[in-house]
Amino acid sequence: VSTGVAASMREIPLLSYRIVVGRGALKTVGDVAAAAGVSARFALISDAVVSKAYGPVVERALGKSVRSFVMPIGESHKTRDTWARLTDELIAAGFGRDTCIVALGGGVVGDVAGFVAATYMRGVPVIHLPTSLLAMIDASIGGKTGVDTPAGKNLVGAFHQPAAVVVDPDVLSTLPAEHLRAGLAEAIKHGAIRDAAYFDSISSHLRSPSSQQLDLEWLTDLVIRGIEIKASVVATDEREHGLRKTLNFGHTIGHAVEVLSNYRMLHGEAVAIGMAVEADIAERIGVADRETANAIRSVLRQAGLPTASGFPAKDVLNATRTDKKSRGGRVEYALPKRVGAMAGAESGWSVPVPDEVVQQALDASD
Ligand SMILES: NC(=O)c1ccc[n+]([C@@H]2O[C@H](COP(=O)([O-])OP(=O)(O)OC[C@H]3O[C@@H](n4cnc5c(N)ncnc54)[C@H](O)[C@@H]3O)[C@@H](O)[C@H]2O)c1
Ligand SMILES: [Zn+2]
Repeated sequence: VSTGVAASMREIPLLSYRIVVGRGALKTVGDVAAAAGVSARFALISDAVVSKAYGPVVERALGKSVRSFVMPIGESHKTRDTWARLTDELIAAGFGRDTCIVALGGGVVGDVAGFVAATYMRGVPVIHLPTSLLAMIDASIGGKTGVDTPAGKNLVGAFHQPAAVVVDPDVLSTLPAEHLRAGLAEAIKHGAIRDAAYFDSISSHLRSPSSQQLDLEWLTDLVIRGIEIKASVVATDEREHGLRKTLNFGHTIGHAVEVLSNYRMLHGEAVAIGMAVEADIAERIGVADRETANAIRSVLRQAGLPTASGFPAKDVLNATRTDKKSRGGRVEYALPKRVGAMAGAESGWSVPVPDEVVQQALDASD
């Protein structure tokens, strides 16, 4: 590894594992793995597109003992079937307990490969190499792994903390624009729940004319702060008994809409709609300051993200009931108090909402 690359790496020291961020960081993954003590046999799991673009550089960085496995692209393949196939391929290839899974890709690859790692021979280490903006600032941090079932998202899975996370923002240069936008939705969420300055910096960047061009320096800063926010939440509440629930802002309505669209809508797009509707809910029941929903809607629109689903309100409402976040049959919402702060500290960061209010907010969304 050239010292040039190593010197420009940033470490985010909030969790028990290393998170290394920097342009060119993919080249350091072999060193990071060695330092984490997991340099035995690597099973590199990726999807078809990402594997083609970045598989070779990662294979080189990992050294001799690496074999690649490719899964099909997209949320519709985040299934038990893909998990089973990958697991069977690992067994057939003779991978033992000294395996280290390396997950190279977006959140779909990270969630499936992480779940393979969580269960393979009762659990082997995983290193995440997130390649989408969403996976960099969200999915790769915090140890949630899993797959979807026809009844809903992420209904089967496990907590499995990674051995390390290595983030190279340079790969964002090939990420399709709609996926960059979808990742921005989660960045906007991080700002909305915890950091008004971050939220404002996204908004002012999107207002500047130069925001039409890909700005990898700006994205690198966005990613670093995004990871810090996510990691700071996860560090205090790894298993989502309290504060971590704030990360679910936009996700109760978001998951409902995502399922209703048969996963044709991107996760980030669905979350954008969810945040717009849930911020409105928060104002309607009086937990959020006035103008909170407006501020959130307006930055979402600047980012080119949707704020309404077009599905009938009663269908969305029904779909919220199978969400994992429902407890004792009651649907839970993580709602903002204002941009940068969440409501519900006294009630475990989840706020009960009457069906009529959800219905009204959905009807009013546009
Ligand atoms: N585990 C968690 O805590 C957590 C948190 C948030 C989201 N998620 C999950 O993440 C998933 C969404 O992640 P996603 O949006 O990254 O989806 P994804 O993995 O499907 O990636 C999006 C698309 O971009 C392509 N791609 C990725 N990186 C690329 C690159 N650098 N260049 C070119 N193409 C690239 C992929 O091939 C894919 O087509 C959802 O399933 C969601 O539930 C998990
Ligand atoms: Zn999300």
